[in-house]
Amino acid sequence: MLLKFDYNNMMSDFIGEQGIKQEELDAMKGKAADAVAKFNANRGQGWLGWTELPYNQDEVVADILNYANEMKKKIEYFVVLGIGGSALGPAAVFTALCHYRHNDLPKDKQKIKFLVEDNVDPERMLALLDVIEPEKTLFNVITKSGATSETMSQYLIISDLLKKKIGAKWNEHIVATTSSARGNLIKLAKENNFKTFYIPESVGGRFSELCPVGLLPAAIMGIDIKAMLKGAEEMDKACTGVENNSALMCAVLQYIAMNKGKNISVMMPYADSLKYIADWYCQLWGESLGKAVDNDGKVIHAGQTPVKSLGVTDQHSQVQLYTEGPFDKVITLIGVKKFRGDVTIPQGAEQFPDVNFLCGHTMGELINTERVATEYALTRSKHMNNTILLDEVNANTLGQLLMFFQLETAYEGYLLNIDAFNQPGVEEGKNATYALFNRKGYEAKKEELENAPKKNAKYII
Ligand code: PA5
Repeated sequence: MLLKFDYNNMMSDFIGEQGIKQEELDAMKGKAADAVAKFNANRGQGWLGWTELPYNQDEVVADILNYANEMKKKIEYFVVLGIGGSALGPAAVFTALCHYRHNDLPKDKQKIKFLVEDNVDPERMLALLDVIEPEKTLFNVITKSGATSETMSQYLIISDLLKKKIGAKWNEHIVATTSSARGNLIKLAKENNFKTFYIPESVGGRFSELCPVGLLPAAIMGIDIKAMLKGAEEMDKACTGVENNSALMCAVLQYIAMNKGKNISVMMPYADSLKYIADWYCQLWGESLGKAVDNDGKVIHAGQTPVKSLGVTDQHSQVQLYTEGPFDKVITLIGVKKFRGDVTIPQGAEQFPDVNFLCGHTMGELINTERVATEYALTRSKHMNNTILLDEVNANTLGQLLMFFQLETAYEGYLLNIDAFNQPGVEEGKNATYALFNRKGYEAKKEELENAPKKNAKYII
């Protein structure tokens, strides 16, 4: 079963003048058809290699499964070293599909602990070293460019540690996921004989979860990666035409919403397992659409600020703002019809009618009822909202969800006439870091930084 997308509450029929009129939606037909035509013409090429990942990875998947099966017998810790698109997907899929407290389970219930290091906070690195045993750990260094300072510094720390602790066979504790053609990691991999998986050149970081970037960590954790790819394929096939294309519809609605000043996109899953899907979405949506110029060089400063939120937790933190604050947001709720386990709230509060009404219901019923109640409150207060509904969280539906958001993002890029696949703003920050650390080749950037207007610190004590 494919996930369902309900957009009633985006429309003026349900939220009055804050909503989208049917005529406005109809007027987008030409533009939407154009976006579909451009998308289909570019599939599999340029930066759209991710569209083919459900179809062209049989050999890669076989290699991943063989390697994962072999390594699963040897290791007790799997650590991802990476950042951005090289870390958010693996973390999101692990959280969605493994036991919610996987790393805390006793050893007879979990064989491999899973950790993602996506920062360069020294305390975090020290904490990692406190909880792992390097001789029982496989480190997956993931960086397409092979140049990212955060990932390469983590690699240098870990490889130094492994050499000291393990000696000659230290290289068997590192698996590299990187470009086959460029960057430092591929050179290091060849020099040190690391097992290596490749990120296709036509797949950008934030669109890479369904290639070895995400598939290897998932396979190590026993996740059915073929089912994930099948889900992605099903969603792709359902979202290629102009009609009945929910990813396109979602992109069109967001496009109209942006034109109406809804510059914030809140992603609010009602399932803890999907919490980090919201993080992954935030990078995908923010980095892809936040662009200064369009494809014709016109300055447009496009984008919609993505915000992650968790139902029901953030009902007690953010929903007051979402229902009574400015009309500057679209709130997307993600619901799960059937949880993989449920807990009944027991009887025993007969003397307290204000609590007793809960008794006999399940927590699954409660969380879903609260989602419906929030949807009602948002709609009643005339704030744009829509709902994505999954039957259940499993490898297939997760593959569908990932592909749905990737397709929506690509369509949105075409509607906005921007390059959704570059990230010049991120590169600027990366280059400034290289210059400040005196990296060779960045002398001009260093000079630019040194000549930037000096500021006096404005601190209030
Ligand atoms: O989407 C992107 O391309 C970026 O966010 C990258 O994923 C991120 O900067 C990490 O890059 P790399 O994989 O080259 O280390």
